[in-house]
Amino acid sequence: MRNTFIVGSQWGDESKGKFVDFLAEQADVVARAQGGPNAGHTIVVNGESYVFHLLPSGILHRGKLNVIGNGVVIDVPGLLKEMDSLATRGFPVGDNLEISDRAHLIMPYHKWIEHLAEENDKSRLGTTRRGVGPAYADKARRVSGIRMCDLMEFDVFQKKFLQSLTQYTSALGAVGETFDAEAFFEAYRGYAERLRPHVTDTTLTLSEARKAGKSILFEGAQGSLLDVDFGSYPYVTSSNTTVGGVCTGLGVPPQAIEEVVAVVKAYTTRVGDGPFPTEMDPDFGETVRQAGNEYGATTGRPRRCGWLDIVGLRYASRINGFTQVAVAKLDVLDNVETIKICVEYRVRGELMTNFPAQLSLLDECEPVYEEYSGWMSDTTTCRSYADLPETARRYIERMEELIGVPVTMVSVGPDRAETIHRR
Ligand code: GDP
Ligand code: IMO
Ligand code: MG
Repeated sequence: MRNTFIVGSQWGDESKGKFVDFLAEQADVVARAQGGPNAGHTIVVNGESYVFHLLPSGILHRGKLNVIGNGVVIDVPGLLKEMDSLATRGFPVGDNLEISDRAHLIMPYHKWIEHLAEENDKSRLGTTRRGVGPAYADKARRVSGIRMCDLMEFDVFQKKFLQSLTQYTSALGAVGETFDAEAFFEAYRGYAERLRPHVTDTTLTLSEARKAGKSILFEGAQGSLLDVDFGSYPYVTSSNTTVGGVCTGLGVPPQAIEEVVAVVKAYTTRVGDGPFPTEMDPDFGETVRQAGNEYGATTGRPRRCGWLDIVGLRYASRINGFTQVAVAKLDVLDNVETIKICVEYRVRGELMTNFPAQLSLLDECEPVYEEYSGWMSDTTTCRSYADLPETARRYIERMEELIGVPVTMVSVGPDRAETIHRR
């Protein structure tokens, strides 16, 4: 398999985890480059469901190496909890996981300040409250960032942590928590020893894998429209979710990325605040939410539902260089009589085909829709492209035409088996 980046093309939760797991069979390495425990990637195998926040979605395939890159922000106890829970389900994590020594850590105070910001109406973004944004902010400020290599030298970790903590004591008071530094260090000393066998310079691992002709799946987190540079700023996450994030988040050169598979949900969802031009009316949105079980895998929040937005998808394709599209959750539209695709926006009396930078403009965008009759039949048992109802194929082919990129995979249910490989 060619080295492939699986990227979210919308606002996250497109079903990236499912496709990474599906393709991991053919890969040797699965690597996460950015994001942190804000991600929730769901995989269903033989009816058993697994949700990963930090562990790469190749972890259920034995004999594959999983890498957490320097661009990921890590919540240490959260990661260990995921590893433990997986072990109890028969998938012990050992030398199949490597973690970058350069990855930054999410510390308790990152969660305190995010909690405070989110409780304040003026600064609220509807984040996942996992401390991801504040941890990236500390990384960029260069004053108080703490990395995995620091944790591996416990004296350094302790010193840096105490220095940083002094900046956050007022936040601690404001959230009304108490903090027992001694208990914290005792716990982290244990965590450090548990993680030590996994911590390496993962740039070397990936470079050696490439030299040995191994294939790598780069697992995207969040979605293109949540990218800190290209998304609906400031209603975005704090990392580059698009293709550039793979290079900076793993230390691989651009030539290492040979295919870019965009995961496109057959409609659109968004969790958290921010503009959403194709958002459905509340009643119909609720119907789709129920049909698609659209509740956040990380926070349990109901996801906002909308129609497919070609303006956003073309923009995401331009930035990422999509080479293939994987359509997800087609089955969720099985009982929808009329399906809409937004092909342009109308704003201030003019038609617009590009995704605007200015939030107030995006807020004003009215979608211009094409309408299609639904197929009104069950697609969940379809296992080949030809099995799909003709109207469903027409919808997919119109999507392909509008985005300008071939659809190579279609998902018709959450299970690994409910996947169609078209080409
Ligand atoms: P990710 O963050 O992109 O990995 O996506 P999530 O796991 O957050 O959300 C996708 C949700 O849809 C999960 O609950 C999946 O189990 C489920 N899912 C994935 N593909 C399909 C599909 O084709 N049909 C249906 N009905 N559910 C799916
Ligand atoms: P996966 O990888 C959907 C959203 C949050 C919020 C904004 C900022 O599962 O697709 P953050 O906690 O990152 O500072 O929140 O980004 N968000 C996601 N939405 N899927 C995700 O990840 C997300 N990760 C963050 O809801 O709007
Ligand atoms: Mg998710």
